[in-house]
Amino acid sequence: MHTATGSSRRMLWEITTAVITIYATIEIPLGLVFSGMRQTPVLVAEALITAVFVADLFYRYRDASAGGPEARAQYLKGWLWIDGLASIPFGTLVATPFRALRLLRLLRLVKLLRVSSAVNRLKNVQIINPSVVRMAVLMFWILLTAHFVAIGWIALDAVDRTHHARAQYLQAMYWTSTTLTTIGYGDITPVTPPQTIYTIFIQILGAGLYGFVIGSIASLIANIDVAKTQFREKLERINTFLRYRSIPGELQTRVNDYYEYLWNSRRGHEEATILDELPLSLRTQIAYHINSEIIEKVPIFQGAGEQLIRDVILNLQATVFLPDDYIVRKGETGREMYFISRGSVRVVSGDEQTTYATLTDGQFFGEIALLLATERTATIRANDYCDIYRLDQETFNRIIERYPGFAEHIREHAEQRRQEMGL
Ligand code: CMP
Repeated sequence: MHTATGSSRRMLWEITTAVITIYATIEIPLGLVFSGMRQTPVLVAEALITAVFVADLFYRYRDASAGGPEARAQYLKGWLWIDGLASIPFGTLVATPFRALRLLRLLRLVKLLRVSSAVNRLKNVQIINPSVVRMAVLMFWILLTAHFVAIGWIALDAVDRTHHARAQYLQAMYWTSTTLTTIGYGDITPVTPPQTIYTIFIQILGAGLYGFVIGSIASLIANIDVAKTQFREKLERINTFLRYRSIPGELQTRVNDYYEYLWNSRRGHEEATILDELPLSLRTQIAYHINSEIIEKVPIFQGAGEQLIRDVILNLQATVFLPDDYIVRKGETGREMYFISRGSVRVVSGDEQTTYATLTDGQFFGEIALLLATERTATIRANDYCDIYRLDQETFNRIIERYPGFAEHIREHAEQRRQEMGL
């Protein structure tokens, strides 16, 4: 088990190594093409990179060992190579006149794999929209690719690179961006054969990359709010159907209002269908979580035993009623009782001339017909949108039988209500 401080320390370390890795990724290739720039500060930077990467190696090893021998073996077989390779300060060790050997320095960049695996985990953190993370990652890789392409262009450029490093890098970046985006002004053009070959290669890469980026961005934008997109599509399908069947305008408005309520109150999800797909254990936990709100609201559940609450929770079914909907009609047979989570209903006589009561959040109704096995004693209509939980008769009977204290409570309510109605 990782403690909270442990995990935030780990996060801090991940961020530190990521920043250092990105810095190394930018700096090392620059050092290769502008070798005159390798003065003291750069060497200090290399020492810092080495220190952090070596520390990271030990940190990961210890972390893996803490996870047991299997985790350690897995680390030794896999990531160790990458962490180890990245820790070697080739820039300091390989001070050689052979240019090709200096390319060894680039090996350190394997550490980037670490960053991408950390970012992948970031996608699972629920606070940030995964599409936003993906978009940021895409931008990062594009910029990094452009950086490498520009470095390649500089490497092939024959001019003296010690004095105008900044201007030259800027020019190379400019060439890269016009080429990669397939704009190609043509004001900077290849002169030598290697440059021409490089340009052809980058042009082909640019065409592919451009298509890939445009496609990715389109799909990312579409996916930023999948739920909303799907909900809108569903609503459009329903409206097409309503128009096709010439449903009266007023009823169409009511349907649309209902869906608007569904979106505002629960992001368009019908809880029952979502839960159906889950295995029982998960369904139980989620039902428990969703329904605990109603349990907290309903006073008769307060002080009730945990077992009772569990029994009730798993059998509650959420439903929505629209303004003026009939929830219960006097004289009908009762098959369920209701708990109000949100909204208000009015209890009226059969002819709707007398209002007996208004019930709101946390109150219940429909218990009389179940308790006494009689017809509904009153009519109940919604005043506004109501989130209501239904409890079926079978569960109700079982609970009444099993929990006499609770049954007594409900009976008292029912008796009082019957008296109020003069029954
Ligand atoms: P039931 O008879 O099953 O259906 C109608 C419901 O209205 C009834 O159960 C009670 O839950 C509720 N009810 C009846 N009278 C009153 C009242 N005076 N105050 C609050 N609720 C009532």
